[in-house]
Amino acid sequence: MAKENKLQVEAIKNGTVIDHIPAHIGFKVLSLFKMNDSNERVTIGLNLPSSALGAKDLIKIENVFISEEQANQLALFAPQATVNKIESYEVVAKLPLSLPDTINAAFHCPNTNCITHDEKAVESSFRVITKVDDIQLKCKYCEKVFSREIVADSH
Ligand code: CTP
Ligand code: ZN
Repeated sequence: MAKENKLQVEAIKNGTVIDHIPAHIGFKVLSLFKMNDSNERVTIGLNLPSSALGAKDLIKIENVFISEEQANQLALFAPQATVNKIESYEVVAKLPLSLPDTINAAFHCPNTNCITHDEKAVESSFRVITKVDDIQLKCKYCEKVFSREIVADSH
């Protein structure tokens, strides 16, 4: 697989490589990094062939290192992704991804009547609920339960 990647998307000098993202989740993952104002080079591979996943997305962000919070959010969408820290062209670390118990201040509650929309000082907070393969988020304030897709889309 390493050979495949190296042929498909150029190696980077310093930064973060997020590999083994399930196909079609790449754009969502990219939005977690809020790269809108950044001038760093980002290379994206979508629907790359992967022996493990069939097809995968891959994101390389130069000179940006993933925070623990971002790793937690990433775990929600792509728990099997691998996050590689690159320094001087070498993989110096592979960060473990673990599903967090709670996600704070990352997403808006999809319930428009939720107090988190009225009180600007109240940060959103969701408890992560896992049911077999399905991940749901329960708002700490209105106690409504949403699929992770719905929460992510009301970003
Ligand atoms: N990579 C990169 N730039 C570098 C070094 C590595 O973009 N200078 C990328 C590789 O292309 C790969 C990922 O970082 O997508 C991880 O590299 P490596 O650990 O060498 O690959 P694998 O052995 O395939 O890793 P794993 O099986 O753990 O995912
Ligand atoms: Zn709510």
